[in-house]
Amino acid sequence: MLRCTGCGARIPGEQARSNFRCEECGDLFEVVYPWSEAWGDGLAAGFRPNAGALRHLWAERRTSTMAVDQSGVWRFRDLLPIVTEEQVVTLREGNTPLYELPKCAKAVGLNWLLAKHQGMNPTGSFKDTGMTAALSVAVARGFEWVACASTGNTSAAMAAYAARAGLRSMVLIPEGKIAWGKLSQSMDYGSTTIQLKTDFDGCVKVLTEIVGRAPVYLLNSVNPYRLEGQKTPAFEMLEQMDWQVPHHLIVPGGNLANCSALGKGFAEMKHLGFIKRVPKISVIQAEGANPLYRWLQGGGEGVFEPVVADTRASAIRIGNPASWKKAVRVLRETGGTCEQATEQEIALAKAEIGAEGIGCEPASAVTFAGLKKLVAKGFVGPEETAVLLLTGHTLKDSEYTMLYHRGELLTAAEMAGATLEERAQHAQMRREPVVLEPNADAVLRMLDAAMPAGQTA
Ligand code: F0G
Repeated sequence: MLRCTGCGARIPGEQARSNFRCEECGDLFEVVYPWSEAWGDGLAAGFRPNAGALRHLWAERRTSTMAVDQSGVWRFRDLLPIVTEEQVVTLREGNTPLYELPKCAKAVGLNWLLAKHQGMNPTGSFKDTGMTAALSVAVARGFEWVACASTGNTSAAMAAYAARAGLRSMVLIPEGKIAWGKLSQSMDYGSTTIQLKTDFDGCVKVLTEIVGRAPVYLLNSVNPYRLEGQKTPAFEMLEQMDWQVPHHLIVPGGNLANCSALGKGFAEMKHLGFIKRVPKISVIQAEGANPLYRWLQGGGEGVFEPVVADTRASAIRIGNPASWKKAVRVLRETGGTCEQATEQEIALAKAEIGAEGIGCEPASAVTFAGLKKLVAKGFVGPEETAVLLLTGHTLKDSEYTMLYHRGELLTAAEMAGATLEERAQHAQMRREPVVLEPNADAVLRMLDAAMPAGQTA
């Protein structure tokens, strides 16, 4: 069933309107099951899944040869029974690595810092986990066309999964405002790619009208089935940490669906007895796209004011986030907070994550930039475990990386806000490519110059 997060109205999934908004109050839906806390009748139906048995089953499925078992989303299908196994469209998403970030941990003064790298998904972003779920529902509902408005990653994921399922897909993206790696993916996967002369929020507006006028299935994150897939990294993270709950999970915020999905995942784990407490989930926004940060700074009540968004972290260049209410609930229920990061801080954080041999796209790096502030404020303690959710692969936006290392990314005005320490860190991080004559002496001189003082190559 779908349950309205505003008025609590419950409807069967098939009855959802094309824009996935409640007919009564206009709010967004969430998927609930008979065992869900929000189902209403408690666990009276006697469907309570057995946590111990499921932990065993989920781990065992990883060794199976079946596609639904190999998927890091569908091996948890017991807790997202939204389609039949035959309807599942999968690219073996999920099962992403949880990395340690020792250098970043040291730099920020934490004992232990981890990164759940959702950029290691088939199309290079966390969107795959949600797309496998919602696109499978599109197949189950018999749609021929699917569509999304996107800052690039949703469109790449949708295009790929639609192609696998044999559906037609249409992408609406803001002209000139998404990274080329992402734009190239939707073309590669055969999507009808339309650039609109507007921003992401303008694309959403146009698409909402289109799905009301044509039989096109909406795959933006207002579609509650997306969030069912995107909740599974919470399960996986717990598995990878041997069911020890981290103190903090730090998530980038754009349309604010992903933090909501992860919050739902952890809440379900707690409700079903897998864990005793949930991590504090905090959201980091880019300073140029910070409507949630502003609203919370203003006291967290009253009218939510959209902003005109502008940041080089183009994935989160979103001024009017659809899922802000869901996100606020997750922050409040888990005890998390919201921070913002400047362009300069994002660029430095991205370079530091890159220097760990991990790498990520700019929108993911806001997590580390924000974590620095949360540690400085004492919100994250040195003994606490924090997990950064890295949402996209570094190759999604290689132009950003190139410009940064050439020293061409940040303007003087943006650097003006940097501390002396940050300036020194930037200088240390930058690896500008050099051009040399093709002889060994020239290359060895370069190597000597790169050696610590007192050593030679
Ligand atoms: N990180 C990346 C790499 C993203 O692509 C997005 C969103 C986010 C973070 C923010 O997640 O919107 O759930 O708060 N990208 C969307 C897109 C909007 O169209 O690809 P969110």
